[in-house]
Amino acid sequence: MDLSEKTVLITGIPAGPIDLANLQAERRLLGWTFSHYNHTKTIQMAMSHRFAELVGGTGVTVKVVYPGHGSTPMNRAMRVRSFPYVYRPIAPLVKPLAPIFMADLTKPARSGIRMATDPALEGVTGAYFGQDGRRRPWPSSVLDVRVRDRVWSLCEELSARTLGHLSH
Ligand SMILES: NC(=O)c1ccc[n+]([C@@H]2O[C@H](COP(=O)([O-])OP(=O)(O)OC[C@H]3O[C@@H](n4cnc5c(N)ncnc54)[C@H](OP(=O)(O)O)[C@@H]3O)[C@@H](O)[C@H]2O)c1
Repeated sequence: MDLSEKTVLITGIPAGPIDLANLQAERRLLGWTFSHYNHTKTIQMAMSHRFAELVGGTGVTVKVVYPGHGSTPMNRAMRVRSFPYVYRPIAPLVKPLAPIFMADLTKPARSGIRMATDPALEGVTGAYFGQDGRRRPWPSSVLDVRVRDRVWSLCEELSARTLGHLSH
């Protein structure tokens, strides 16, 4: 199996709006129940959807999967102020409990590994899967073609800038 032909993107909380005026966290408030982390992961879904469209028919496949939660260096490092506003009062309680109740990382790892290795999913592309490995509908924000256009063009702009720096 050639894993280089597969791209699996791991998303965060599945679903949510994409604010085109706030793609790089220009503004602080996104809403009471939605954090910049969740926003970024939803934007990443739009990018992946477009990526799948662009490489369709080339043999490269792109899937997005939601792993569920696990206690990892990333979320252990997450500060209370990174949580959506409504969850901030309980965040100090969640943070010490998460390493106890979410210590088993085999569960969240399972869905991503399956996406990359299950022969039954060979050739499946432009699809979004839940933690249980079942297909889920894309969030409506991702299905909006104007959103995908804007997200992809921003990716191109930022990549060009980064590659420009690297070539000097
Ligand atoms: N943990 C959760 O509850 C949860 C829930 C939903 C979604 N996710 C998503 O799952 C993914 C993995 O998160 P995690 O919780 O497993 O975090 P993690 O334990 O902190 O792992 C992050 C991984 O990314 C690598 N990495 C970071 N920056 C990189 C860079 N610039 N280039 C190459 N590799 C880089 C790190 O490599 P090194 O170890 O070498 O630094 C590490 O292996 C993320 O996309 C996250 O949003 C996690």
